[in-house]
Amino acid sequence: MKSAILVCRRILPATVERLRRHFEVETNDADDVWSRDELAERLQGKDGALITSTQPIDGVLLDRCPQLRAICSLSTGYNNVDVPACTARGVLFANAPDVLTETTADFGFALMMAAARRVTESEHFLRRGEWTKWTVDLFAGADIHGATLGVLGMGRIGRAVARRGARGFDMPVLYHNRSRLEPSVEAEFGARYVSRDELFAGADHVVIVVPYSAESHHLVGAAELKRMKPTATITNIARGGVVDDAALARALRDGTIAAAGLDVFEDEPSVHPDLLTVPNVVLTPHIASASLPTRLAMSELAADNLIAALDDRPGAPLPPTALNLEVLGRRL
Ligand code: DGY
Repeated sequence: MKSAILVCRRILPATVERLRRHFEVETNDADDVWSRDELAERLQGKDGALITSTQPIDGVLLDRCPQLRAICSLSTGYNNVDVPACTARGVLFANAPDVLTETTADFGFALMMAAARRVTESEHFLRRGEWTKWTVDLFAGADIHGATLGVLGMGRIGRAVARRGARGFDMPVLYHNRSRLEPSVEAEFGARYVSRDELFAGADHVVIVVPYSAESHHLVGAAELKRMKPTATITNIARGGVVDDAALARALRDGTIAAAGLDVFEDEPSVHPDLLTVPNVVLTPHIASASLPTRLAMSELAADNLIAALDDRPGAPLPPTALNLEVLGRRL
């Protein structure tokens, strides 16, 4: 008999077809974010779930779904999942790292450039019919090439951003990370490890790529923004909550910094109302990894994990990116 799974958000049809070859599949074609009660109800009798970063998963939910054996997310970030609670209940959890690294770094660069060169601000001006003549400083912004790039969080995506800056745009790179990188990795991008304060003070363009956790909550607030140059920009492609959105809106409005690019927000899909009214911020709806090939790769990796996690045959392949493989002890 096939195992039963729940696909909690709409995913690309090719992946659903593949999953149907392995499992009895219930899908969420309406693509609504289910409440905890509805999710728990739909998970009854399911062996596995394919989720995204929009479903909170915790011990209370897991206790209501005792049959569940595997939860696989198509997202890299997993601050929505209590992994120790999964492990304690023998539920395998896998996220989907790596496949979105380059696409997300591309987008981080696009946002940073759009903010620095005032792309959306000037487009809105043009669309409003306010462009009546060329002037020498019309929407004059900051350069990217040769400017100092500051990367907060030098994981895979942070390194991909640094590589683009160093190799493509001749940018000196400063970075701050929980731990310093090996000298050979630093040498790849000519990256210099600095304190957080030095990063904010020294960079012309700061890109934030740290995962969200209790420790990184409001890592960037009024004090950090105050340290930055008035000509500087800040770009967040990590998670809402790492930046204090209200403080950022104030810093943008009063000229503490020049501009910002934000793909993630504290209370998605709501956006802090003050950010909607300041002109010098580029806002996008959490789409940094949203190229079609990458979204397919993310879904396929989640499917790879789910298929392997629920395959109990001796010698079956292991889920490639599980975070708690130990729950499959019987197979290791
Ligand atoms: C991720 O993979 O974490 C992206 O933010 C999409 O959820």
